[in-house]
Amino acid sequence: MTDASNGVVVTGAARGIGRAIAELYAERGWRVLSADLSLPPNLRGQRRVKADVSTAAGRERIVRAAREMGGVQVLVNNAAFQGAHGSVLDVSERGWARTLNVNLTAPLLLTRALVDLLPRSAAVVNVASVQGLFAEQGNAAYNASKGGLVNLTRAMALDLAPHGLRVNAVAPGAISTEAVLQSIMESDDPEQTRRDYEDLHALRRLGTPREVAQVVYFLGSEDAAFMTGAIVPVDGGMTASFMMAGRPV
Ligand SMILES: NC(=O)c1ccc[n+]([C@@H]2O[C@H](COP(=O)([O-])OP(=O)(O)OC[C@H]3O[C@@H](n4cnc5c(N)ncnc54)[C@H](O)[C@@H]3O)[C@@H](O)[C@H]2O)c1
Repeated sequence: MTDASNGVVVTGAARGIGRAIAELYAERGWRVLSADLSLPPNLRGQRRVKADVSTAAGRERIVRAAREMGGVQVLVNNAAFQGAHGSVLDVSERGWARTLNVNLTAPLLLTRALVDLLPRSAAVVNVASVQGLFAEQGNAAYNASKGGLVNLTRAMALDLAPHGLRVNAVAPGAISTEAVLQSIMESDDPEQTRRDYEDLHALRRLGTPREVAQVVYFLGSEDAAFMTGAIVPVDGGMTASFMMAGRPV
């Protein structure tokens, strides 16, 4: 019999929001298994595994490491591919397939692969996006993948409830990750671009990876014991206003 309590798997944990999630769990005394394409940073002796969540071999590596860790109480499907920009008319088939594989199919298949290790009362938290609730012009693959993940979260909640599992998602607004900050710095007018990002949110600022991690932690915890199938915006009020949500980034 394995003791799954206080074991968490976080995908895409090498940087950004995933890293903040892994750090928060580690700080709170959890056993953390961080998975990513490149080896995630070492968090005080926690486990880490190099794995592509879109491949069967990568998922199998995560399952093996999770079993060695002694089981899993929370799975956070955070890894995402955000590199296939393009409209419905010009997004490449290859980019479309990669985006859907990593952002939508992998959370389904990794959850399925880990389900035998998840005790009743375990929780899955999917990291979706406001772009799963509304579309951004010229970002068709990402929008479709996150919209799919939003409704997959609801399907998972219904299908896994009989197993005692809860499944919820967060939908972050613009978060000050390395990637977002870099894209601001590389724009023609970084100050204006930053203001444009900030003005998408009622709170007039970017969110921090830590602020997303805290909501993920809550959804994975017993404090959220009566929540399943919920999509929780962590977006500084972006989706509270149709005008903000409708503005192009
Ligand atoms: N940053 C934002 O503003 C923002 C907003 C809304 C939603 N999100 C979502 O939050 C999550 C984290 O975003 P981020 O900004 O920290 O992203 P990021 O690109 O900084 O980090 C994503 C991590 O996932 C890893 N990854 C990508 N493909 C993988 C694969 N196939 N297998 C394993 N690991 C893989 C990457 O190596 C990277 O370390 C994503 O799901 C993203 O869609 C981010």
